[in-house]
Amino acid sequence: MNIIRAENYKEMSQLAAKKLVEQINEKSDSVLGLATGSTPEGLYEEIIKAHKEDNISFKDVTTFNLDEYVGLNKDNHQSYYYYMHHLLFNHIDINGGQVNLPNGDAHDLQEECNRYEKAIKQAGGVDIQILGIGLNGHIGFNEPGTPFSMQTHIIDLDESTRQANARFFDSIDDVPSQAITMGIDTIMQSKQIILIVSGSQKAEALEKLVNGPVTEDFPASILQQHANVTIIANRDALSELSK
Ligand code: PGA
Repeated sequence: MNIIRAENYKEMSQLAAKKLVEQINEKSDSVLGLATGSTPEGLYEEIIKAHKEDNISFKDVTTFNLDEYVGLNKDNHQSYYYYMHHLLFNHIDINGGQVNLPNGDAHDLQEECNRYEKAIKQAGGVDIQILGIGLNGHIGFNEPGTPFSMQTHIIDLDESTRQANARFFDSIDDVPSQAITMGIDTIMQSKQIILIVSGSQKAEALEKLVNGPVTEDFPASILQQHANVTIIANRDALSELSK
């Protein structure tokens, strides 16, 4: 694993954006795997800047998001569909038909998981996957205990995840209890992975990811076995590793 140290959140976001821009410059029809949450917000700001100021074009790019809540429709402001359009897609020249998120409001959720997994394969697989990490070691919404062999699937969210994400909702009761997520196997098949981590509250999780045993009890630990992972973390997030 390659670890890049950023001074602060802004530098972490800039370094991650640079990687994505390099990928698109190399291959204009790249397939990008994208993430939601607080961590990538700065990255998306930098991408919009690269589009507006440096004419980086996304017209041939295809994207697949990691996950989506079950039961929220696209207009719901807490859906990841809304987040991605609001914070990124509406501000760049990406073709709406090449944007993919699981549909958490699908009538048949299992069928939706199968469709999503197949669509990723049909697109030729993910070239670069952006990941964050949850305090409990989840990547995507693969909570502790999820078998490493899983592909896109329905997951019951951990109570700790619902609590961590309650800040985006009016109350914890509004946080969905399930999501559709790419599985660990899906994530491990991406050609390159960029994990972004910010803040001292993530320091312990990052240390476990890098030095801990590879175990389904801490899903991110599987990344030790991926051939092309770059961790871009700020000083606070690296504080447990540099001890
Ligand atoms: P965060 O979420 O970026 O909002 O901290 C990361 C995650 O839970 O994967």
